[in-house]
Amino acid sequence: MSGEPIDRSLVAPGLLTIDHEALARRFGTPLFLYDEDELRERCRRYVSEFGADSVVYAGKAFLCDAMARLVAEEGLHLDVATGGELQVARAVGFPLDRVVLHGNNKSDQELRDGVEFGVGRIVADSFDELDRLEELAAALDIHPKVLVRVTPGVEAHTHQYIETGTEDSKFGFTVSEGVALAAVRRVVTSSSLRFGGLHCHIGSQIQRLDPWDRAVPVLAALAREVVSQVGVPVTEVNLGGGLGARYVSDDPPLRISDYASALRDALARSWSPEAGDRPAVLVEPGRSIVAPCAITLYRVGTVKEIPGVGTYVAVDGGMSDNPRPVLYGAGYEAYLPSRVDDDRPLRCRVVGKHCEQGDVIVADASLPAGVRRGDLLATPTTGAYGYSMASNYNRMPRPAVVFLRDGEPRLVLRRETAEDLSRLDVVGD
Ligand code: LLP
Repeated sequence: MSGEPIDRSLVAPGLLTIDHEALARRFGTPLFLYDEDELRERCRRYVSEFGADSVVYAGKAFLCDAMARLVAEEGLHLDVATGGELQVARAVGFPLDRVVLHGNNKSDQELRDGVEFGVGRIVADSFDELDRLEELAAALDIHPKVLVRVTPGVEAHTHQYIETGTEDSKFGFTVSEGVALAAVRRVVTSSSLRFGGLHCHIGSQIQRLDPWDRAVPVLAALAREVVSQVGVPVTEVNLGGGLGARYVSDDPPLRISDYASALRDALARSWSPEAGDRPAVLVEPGRSIVAPCAITLYRVGTVKEIPGVGTYVAVDGGMSDNPRPVLYGAGYEAYLPSRVDDDRPLRCRVVGKHCEQGDVIVADASLPAGVRRGDLLATPTTGAYGYSMASNYNRMPRPAVVFLRDGEPRLVLRRETAEDLSRLDVVGD
């Protein structure tokens, strides 16, 4: 709420009482700080709701060696969407049979790697991918488990760029016109592919549970057709990720336990005996594990008051470390960690340092009065799709990332240097 101190529940508990100034001096700013205890706690909450073999962490939300190791230690599976993400899994010795390979346009190399390295599941997105996969699997004499990704034609009440379950999507096979059924038949009748089940991801940052109530019955109906027309049961249904995070104090609380019950109930209601035994349900959360576990720490560089217009508070990062406000109009909160309990009467706009008017971090921020150059400013809930979508726009080095466990900092990604930024330049004569 504007004017009041930051809602403490938006900040991961292990990031409230640390010495932000010391961390900023040691690691520099902008800086991503993750509460590692909270990361583990959220992984465990998912595992206790769904079971260890049913939770697949979506690496796209935030992935580095340390995160992949943490995910392995907590016993989750890992969703990789590219060869690059798969490479992280390999680099840390992530058990590859616990890796799920995704992608609407997997390259031949990505498919080959997936098959050869023995990833646990490959989620198929198109008929031509199935053809290529079949050829590869036959040539290598390896029989990958393949899930068929389905678009159930439901709307998920989220930003259109991150809505993926409608008919008009670049992902997966539509259930209409028997397309998804044909894809299942293609896998089942293949001599080199094993049919693993159905996959469906309807979108991301979903703040209501009812879209899954509509998606699950579509899958259940498809499963009945699979049984009656293809003659095999659907033993596994992966319902993707999508549970939202609470970014601003007005956002609704979204509990993993409520989400789990909603999925279980939807399945119990719609899975009729003709579809065979109830399948194992897997989920693929990214944001709802990592988003609440981090804050980004910035240093205020300048405060500009425009009489009669408003106040701009400019920090030393911006759209290069958090493109979400620019891309999706995403809202965030801001606070000064040294004055966490102070009222925030100053309505202002927190902006970055990029050469772009749209370089906004918090369009409608509330901050304590007297914020000034040199202050540390934090934005909570930046653990997902911030670092992973960071760029070098304006040749900005990507920030460092620090994990805190019991208050002890551990650098997991160092800040990029000027040398890092020029390493791709080919120097001519
Ligand atoms: N599984 C699949 C197949 C996905 O495509 C995604 C996200 C997930 C799981 C994880 O979804 P989550 O639980 O994190 O919502 N850059 C956007 C989000 C893009 C999501 C892409 N796919 C953002 O910053 O909001």
